[in-house]
Amino acid sequence: MELDPSALDRQGRYRLMTAAIVPRPIAWISTLSAEGHPNLAPFSFFGAVSSEPPIVSLSVGRRRGQKKDTAQNLLATGEGVLHIVSATLARAMVHTSAEVGPEVDEFELASLTKAPAQRVKPWRIAEAKMALEVRVLSHQEVGRGPVDLFLLEIVWVHLDESILSDGLPDPVKLEPTARLGGQLYATICEVFELPRPE
Ligand SMILES: Cc1cc2nc3c(=O)[nH]c(=O)nc-3n(C[C@H](O)[C@H](O)[C@H](O)COP(=O)(O)O)c2cc1C
Repeated sequence: MELDPSALDRQGRYRLMTAAIVPRPIAWISTLSAEGHPNLAPFSFFGAVSSEPPIVSLSVGRRRGQKKDTAQNLLATGEGVLHIVSATLARAMVHTSAEVGPEVDEFELASLTKAPAQRVKPWRIAEAKMALEVRVLSHQEVGRGPVDLFLLEIVWVHLDESILSDGLPDPVKLEPTARLGGQLYATICEVFELPRPE
């Protein structure tokens, strides 16, 4: 089968992208509004960009043409805390994707505990085993959506001792939840090692 993405409608292109580019890690990001209201939401259009300095990308879609709360907050305050979603937190993560007003605190909605971050003002999820404190490096509107694409610099890292092997996050212990197409998710079932060629 061959496909010209421009021949699909908008929904068809979205469904193709989200089914083809899998598994996607999930950035569960805590931000604060300009007025100081806490906000929490998951995003799977998320990826590693650079390690020197450590930079990740986060792409936030628009809702009926308006910037989502996360994008508005990142633009207003320049700060956030990204969490990796261990399998035990997957249900709470999905709960925080509810379309609610900016005044609603998704930490309370999903019965999550707020912990202070070190370098930024937004709250950290106490239950999360790994959290990355970030500052906005750049923002760009991309595409016809458009989407709000952010480059975020990691300025502090929290790692729960229970997920470490030799001082680094161990994927089996961390049990990261990844997003597939539609409402499907996956965890890591098998880990194997392949040495690189000399
Ligand atoms: C697992 C998961 C991944 C998601 N990924 C994205 C994404 O990459 N981009 C996006 O715009 N929305 C994504 N969403 C939807 C947002 O989480 C949802 O629109 C949320 O209400 C945004 O919250 P906010 O308005 O507080 O920023 C995702 C939802 C789930 C459950």
